[in-house]
Amino acid sequence: MSALLDVRDLRKTFGGGQTLFGAPRPEVRAVDGISFTLARGETLGLVGETGSGKSTLGRLVLRLIEPSAGQVRFEDTDVTAASTRALRAMRPRMQMVFQDPYGSIDPRMTAGAIIAEPMTAHGVGRAEAAGRAARLLAQVGLSPAMAARYPHEFSGGQRQRIGIARAIALDPSLVVLDEPVSALDVSVQAQILNLLAEIQARSGVAFLFIAHDLGVVRHVSDRVAVMYLGRVVEMAPRDALYGAPLHPYTVSLLAAVPRPDPLKERNRPRIRPIGEIGSAASLPTGCRFHPRCPRARLVAARGGDTVEAEGTRLPSACVRQDPLLAPAGGAAHLAACHFPHED
Ligand SMILES: Nc1ncnc2c1ncn2[C@@H]1O[C@H](COP(=O)(O)OP(=O)(O)O)[C@@H](O)[C@H]1O
Ligand code: SF4
Ligand SMILES: [Mg+2]
Repeated sequence: MSALLDVRDLRKTFGGGQTLFGAPRPEVRAVDGISFTLARGETLGLVGETGSGKSTLGRLVLRLIEPSAGQVRFEDTDVTAASTRALRAMRPRMQMVFQDPYGSIDPRMTAGAIIAEPMTAHGVGRAEAAGRAARLLAQVGLSPAMAARYPHEFSGGQRQRIGIARAIALDPSLVVLDEPVSALDVSVQAQILNLLAEIQARSGVAFLFIAHDLGVVRHVSDRVAVMYLGRVVEMAPRDALYGAPLHPYTVSLLAAVPRPDPLKERNRPRIRPIGEIGSAASLPTGCRFHPRCPRARLVAARGGDTVEAEGTRLPSACVRQDPLLAPAGGAAHLAACHFPHED
């Protein structure tokens, strides 16, 4: 069976060209050649620091923005080449949930109207849509009587439940969730994650679940992809990624996930990338992680072919060759690092 979603060498560049006054505008390679597939009913967690290109990728997948290059196939249709009309026909099957439900929800609409809107927009009669909205409210753990209330009358977690009810109203096969729990308290986060798992078990919907923290996606993901400056640098089945991470960026993100046990929390290794995430407007040469990579410094200290860079000596491969995302720990465990086994 073919994949539900097949993303091939997807790219998005912002800016470039010139300003009105002839000054060059910096080119931002927000998504810089990303490929992956998603099976029906699967959850792929997509993690990386702010600025790594996660939201841009999520929007490209649903073609809410136009790609610069590459292809997205969804249910065997080429989304990137679809006409406005074909895209509109696909919309019910591919939905998005945003971090801030207030930002995407009209404050003058009742919860019932917010949930019913995509249904009436796609030809469901008003009475039928209202009835289904009431049932959806119950499905996401709210009272059907809440249909008459306005967004400001709900808590953050309840608003996110409304956003989820709206997204699943037309029984989609794919939902892109862009940091759906990042603005919520930890206890509320867990409730929303449980709700999403329940919905998936019942409906078989696939999720592309975006977060900036590896801790958040751990329990909901079948596979996890880690993004850095426009690229996926590691992708693996969940247990392989958390149990045996191969890319030094993943290792450092894992080290930042708090542990519930205070003793382990105190003793855990502090592997930190050096400095801040770089800019997608001026990508480093070779491996884009090399200015921050602790492993490159370790490998160079052992000798071999090194060059002067970043005020130190680094392996010349790291500074000169862009590492490809390739199998490094079994066929399904991909990493983009010249030294995936060197820690
Ligand atoms: N509309 C836009 N115009 C210009 N640059 C953008 C736009 N959207 C995103 N970017 C840039 O693209 C990069 C990736 O952004 P984004 O996809 O929002 O990352 P993330 O969701 O991981 O924080 C950032 O450098 C950001 O500033
Ligand atoms: S290729 Fe080099 S710089 Fe890049 S992650 Fe691997 S060791 Fe670090
Ligand atoms: Mg984002």
